[in-house]
Amino acid sequence: VVGIIAALAAAYLIGSVSGARVLAGAFAAPDIRRLGSGNAGTSNAWRIGGRGYGAAVLGFDLLKGAVATGLAAALAPIMPWPAVAGFVAVVGHVWPVFHGFRGGKGLATAAGVLVFLAPVVLVAALAVFGATLWARRIVSLASLAALAVAGSFALLAAFMDGPVRALIGGLCVLLVVTHRENIVRLRLGQEPRIRR
Ligand code: G3P
Repeated sequence: VVGIIAALAAAYLIGSVSGARVLAGAFAAPDIRRLGSGNAGTSNAWRIGGRGYGAAVLGFDLLKGAVATGLAAALAPIMPWPAVAGFVAVVGHVWPVFHGFRGGKGLATAAGVLVFLAPVVLVAALAVFGATLWARRIVSLASLAALAVAGSFALLAAFMDGPVRALIGGLCVLLVVTHRENIVRLRLGQEPRIRR
């Protein structure tokens, strides 16, 4: 029980360290929560602070998800705990205790969670993300397409463990919620495109 509590607490605290906020100083980036989409995540960091800052935020937030689940696999190795810890890490990223509970939308951290727990799903979702981004140049649309792929795996892929499927399903629901403003803008045709 101590291992489970430690794994979940660590996952929340690790998830709560916002890459966008922590790395802003190193890249002399402005406070992206006031600019662009206002989101403290990879795509807004890229948009406002440039490629280097965006890539660093992506790496940092990905790593958080992978570290939180890896640590949980060591502290509480029996399923469903590593999967629960992965979900909790994304919750930490979205509602971070260190940053006034205003974090990002959770996509990069969720991808990091899948590195160990569902690499096949991650690769499939990334491929669709990349293809959609290339074709349409809208990050949130690519994110939602990737979620649709991941969600389909959760519903249909009998080869995956139940807890992993539940994790992916839960992440899909959470990330659709965090993308709710993007969904409204997409429907209105107001979502900004990135330069190719
Ligand atoms: O995962 C974040 C991305 O899908 C949208 O971010 O900043 O364009 O709202 P943003």
